[in-house]
Amino acid sequence: PEPGWTADADVVVVGSGIAGLTVALRFTELRPGGRVLVVTKDVLSAGSTRWAQGGIAAALDPDDSPAEHMRDTLIAGVGLCDEEAVRVLVTEGPGAVRRLMARGAEFDRDPSGRLQLTREGGHRRDRIAHAGGDATGTEIQRALVAAVRAEPRIEVIEHALALDLLLDARGAACGVTLHVMGEGARDGVGAVRAGAVVLASGGMGQVYAATTNPVVSTGDGIALALRAGAVVRDLEFVQFHPTVLWLGPRATGQQPLISEAVRGEGAVLIDASGERFMPGVHELAELAPRDVVAKAIMRRMRETGTDHVYLDARHFGEAKWRARFPTILEVCRSHGIDPVTEPIPVAPAAHYASGGVRTDLYGRTSVPNLYACGEVACTGVHGANRLASNSLLEGLVFGERIAADLAGRDLTPGEPAPDDRPAGLVDPRVRLKIQGHMSRGAGVLRSDRSLAEVARALTDARWTPIAVEPCTEAWEATNLLTVASALVAAAAERKETRGSHWREDHPERDDDRWLVHLDIRLTAEGL
Ligand code: SIN
Repeated sequence: PEPGWTADADVVVVGSGIAGLTVALRFTELRPGGRVLVVTKDVLSAGSTRWAQGGIAAALDPDDSPAEHMRDTLIAGVGLCDEEAVRVLVTEGPGAVRRLMARGAEFDRDPSGRLQLTREGGHRRDRIAHAGGDATGTEIQRALVAAVRAEPRIEVIEHALALDLLLDARGAACGVTLHVMGEGARDGVGAVRAGAVVLASGGMGQVYAATTNPVVSTGDGIALALRAGAVVRDLEFVQFHPTVLWLGPRATGQQPLISEAVRGEGAVLIDASGERFMPGVHELAELAPRDVVAKAIMRRMRETGTDHVYLDARHFGEAKWRARFPTILEVCRSHGIDPVTEPIPVAPAAHYASGGVRTDLYGRTSVPNLYACGEVACTGVHGANRLASNSLLEGLVFGERIAADLAGRDLTPGEPAPDDRPAGLVDPRVRLKIQGHMSRGAGVLRSDRSLAEVARALTDARWTPIAVEPCTEAWEATNLLTVASALVAAAAERKETRGSHWREDHPERDDDRWLVHLDIRLTAEGL
């Protein structure tokens, strides 16, 4: 659509979680006079960051080290992490977390003022800093939003969905088109010109029927990047969080998370007959990496013919539950489950995209002037399976690196070239159908057959673009269809089981053939 209004900035940041707000804040610190525009689809504090419970991982304890954090990250990533990216993450992590504290984020401390650190799956040390017990993301988001609101060189447009990149004649990003709802003079479709665009738009959990992700996580950044010709990597590695509150077989949409930190503090998994099943599966038992625990739960559910297992933390008692996990306690009780007196029903649900838009160590994508940061990006730190609580850290560390790169660059935007990319939106009602097909055939368990069925369903003629009223719901459904198709193509291609990609028909890991990344681009011929 033709833009009805225009705006400009040195940098436009799409998304307002830890990644996007860190880029914006750090850039204004490093670039005198630099101006940033942050656009966000909902309000500034919506998005995944504020839902993070467990915490942020970094080698902050004197007995811990970046080398040990690196070892645990590489093991969880099952051979596909980029070692250099992981080294950057773990060595720059502690400093970045300290700067986050300096921005105002308050983490939990013991009476002597030392940071309280806990453990989660895959970590062999206590290295997870947390806030408000189990409300780490809420505290980080609060602090970052307050800092952004106090910085006059950061402008914010809320209720602004990023539609497509503006590209100049050489294919470099020079801005973005937006659809804004209810911003007065900036209502409707507009164009923002900028010297660089940073995608920090989060994940795509809403491609599945049940997910821990908020309703806004519709893969908009990945779809936009694909339409701009960017390379997207490792989309098949979608992480399923092992312990999501089970609310019945038909529960859909965002589901409440029961943090890994609950297991870190001693909760155990039991089946319907009360038997523990993790000790025989992995030396770390309930604290094995996330993919191992999710698979063990799926197997136990199959063996016992049930659709959930239980997390037992009754031994914490009321006082510990209240002090350490007040949010989870309240959520469970609001659903009629009292974790102090009964085990919590849990099952795996879609949680995190380990892959995304491919970047280098400064967040630069394959499209000049386009950067990606946080869940939307694939920096190489997660490989086939992200280590718990490395996601907030990634947004922080790589957000700072992107800001540093931008601060030293010429940010004069190019001239937008005419856009001859085919336009077309799908009917918003396909969202539910996509979610149903993806959960059935491309979820925790996949096979050639199930993936072919999903692929067929996604290309079903009924879902070809139709003339619909341009609205957020139609763009979201279009984006979901794009990322679901790319995810299914990657999952069908990788004929092995590795990390969070579990192929029933290829149950073994195959290092001879598959120690490789799968890169996807959208061309005129398709994916
Ligand atoms: C959790 O608290 O279990 C989530 C941590 C994460 O996803 O890294």
